[in-house]
Amino acid sequence: MIKKFLDLGMQPLANKSLKKKDIIGKTKEQFYHLEVGFNPKIKLVSILNTIPAKKMFDDNYPYRSSMSRTMLLSFKKLAKKIINSYNPNFILEIGSNDGSLIKNFDKKKVICVEPCKNLAKITKKMGYKTYESFWNMRLAKKIKSKIKKIDLIYSSNTLSHINNLNSVFESITNILSNDGILIIEDPSLLDCLKKVSYDQFYNEHIYVFSLLSINNLIKKYKLEVFNIEKLNIHGGSLRYYIKKTSNKKYKVSKKVIVQLNKELRHGINKFSTYIKFKNKVENSKEKLNKFFLKLKGKNKKIIGYGATAKSSTVLNYCKVKNETLDYFLDTTPGKAGKYMPGTHIYIKSYSKRLLNRADYAFLGAWNFKKEIFNKEKQYIKRGGKFITHVPIPRII
Ligand code: TYD
Repeated sequence: MIKKFLDLGMQPLANKSLKKKDIIGKTKEQFYHLEVGFNPKIKLVSILNTIPAKKMFDDNYPYRSSMSRTMLLSFKKLAKKIINSYNPNFILEIGSNDGSLIKNFDKKKVICVEPCKNLAKITKKMGYKTYESFWNMRLAKKIKSKIKKIDLIYSSNTLSHINNLNSVFESITNILSNDGILIIEDPSLLDCLKKVSYDQFYNEHIYVFSLLSINNLIKKYKLEVFNIEKLNIHGGSLRYYIKKTSNKKYKVSKKVIVQLNKELRHGINKFSTYIKFKNKVENSKEKLNKFFLKLKGKNKKIIGYGATAKSSTVLNYCKVKNETLDYFLDTTPGKAGKYMPGTHIYIKSYSKRLLNRADYAFLGAWNFKKEIFNKEKQYIKRGGKFITHVPIPRII
């Protein structure tokens, strides 16, 4: 039923960086075939081969949402809006990571759900009730038996990581009060197609949602999107405000119709659109490799900026290794001192001194371009350049 349109080759798990002992001991990495397909019935785009969740979200999960000022500001703004517009009785966050959103709320009014032990530990320490668990019906029922009314559920960059979406929406519908609101945010398929940001696809991102596919997924649970916001987060995301269809308190905003029309105009519902996208991805690979070859031919020093899961997809797909990128710089504490999966490029703890040694920095965290450019004025002033592959490979 799912029609394949893109083959990104054999890929390692994008967030599984390696330790020095793995490199020395030649530890065998797990690779999987990263292929992307389109479900013509519900218009849902997904990867075809999935990895068991426990293998990806373990006790040492490296991603920390608090590592970017952009993310923190976005969460702060959202928290304010939630309090002002909905004033919820009780909030549940599915995939609470290191508590970047919930820290804006009263400890007595929040429940966190987070399967990664190292992250759950952080919110527990902050004093928030945290269930160290994957989201499922069993947990939903357990929480429901303890809290009378959960009227706001929030989940950012998490639902697209869960294979069984039927179970997700069924359990959410079960626990959400009848007048409650579900807010989810995830990368937007329309942005991904327009920006040729094929690096949105990797083992953790099982789905890249559109409004169209979300509508198709939730209608059988008698849920509907009543408002939508476009965010610059993660290279272009959508924040969906969802309610039970029986709840007439909120009218469906015009913004929802506008977004749907934009998606349809772009042909998000047609398989031919995805074939065009595939051709653009293949051109992008060719062009990026040409850049690297040319710069290396001139003996330029190139490094990576932001050791993201996204850059793991790009570099493994384009077969760029440590002969091309000397090292990556990253501010995340758990990433420094390790090696990028598959390509084995060393990750160093970010410093301006190390950046200034480079002639070119490949923007692994291209989605934070604005924040990074603001921070790196000195590097840019002294002639340092960035390389990005979005929307087409180019030097900035
Ligand atoms: P992100 O793009 O959210 O990740 P992913 O593709 O892995 O989901 O991650 C941004 C990464 O970039 C994160 O590892 C932190 C790093 N980073 C820096 O090192 N410096 C910066 O200034 C910013 C904004 C991010």
